[in-house]
Amino acid sequence: MKILVAYSSKTGNTRKLAEAIHLVLPDADLCPMASAPNPAQYDLIFMGCWIDKGTADLEAQAFMAKIHDKPVALFFSLGAYPDSAHAAECQETVSGLLASCSVVDRFMCQGAIDPELIEWMKALPKDHGYGPTDSRKKLWKDAETHPDKDDLKAVSNWATGVLAAV
Ligand SMILES: Cc1cc2nc3c(=O)[nH]c(=O)nc-3n(C[C@H](O)[C@H](O)[C@H](O)COP(=O)(O)O)c2cc1C
Repeated sequence: MKILVAYSSKTGNTRKLAEAIHLVLPDADLCPMASAPNPAQYDLIFMGCWIDKGTADLEAQAFMAKIHDKPVALFFSLGAYPDSAHAAECQETVSGLLASCSVVDRFMCQGAIDPELIEWMKALPKDHGYGPTDSRKKLWKDAETHPDKDDLKAVSNWATGVLAAV
């Protein structure tokens, strides 16, 4: 079975997830989306993106538009807590972008938020939708250490499970 692990990553979090998947699937091709081969050549695609304003980042959206009728295992990192309503919405939104594929399984975890973005949000009024409330400051802090060792173990186990199930 030919497997592609393609990822898009602005600050490295999703790249770490992709590399952890590749460690347990060493025969798979691991590629940043910008240089990924034609997905039509593959039997299974692990597709990794980061969440940008509630959906997949633009590079990932462009790549997803090129995948048709393939089993896709979707993984992504985001700033929000994985058990939050926002994370669940992101998962549905990104899965919806793969409508012409069968999404065989999905994985997400928190990822440290770009410090430049945090500085920008800190300067906003507290009552702004992204402003520096106490709960939002706690979220930024909690995200700082992710993906951590446990996340990387979890994504490796997830990938092994995906392969066993297809
Ligand atoms: C411009 C921008 C927009 C973002 N939008 C969201 C968002 O809507 N929801 C969220 O939970 N995280 C959001 N994040 C956080 C990233 O999804 C998160 O830090 C992710 O782990 C980054 O992955 P990367 O290191 O692979 O680029 C945003 C980050 C940036 C820089």
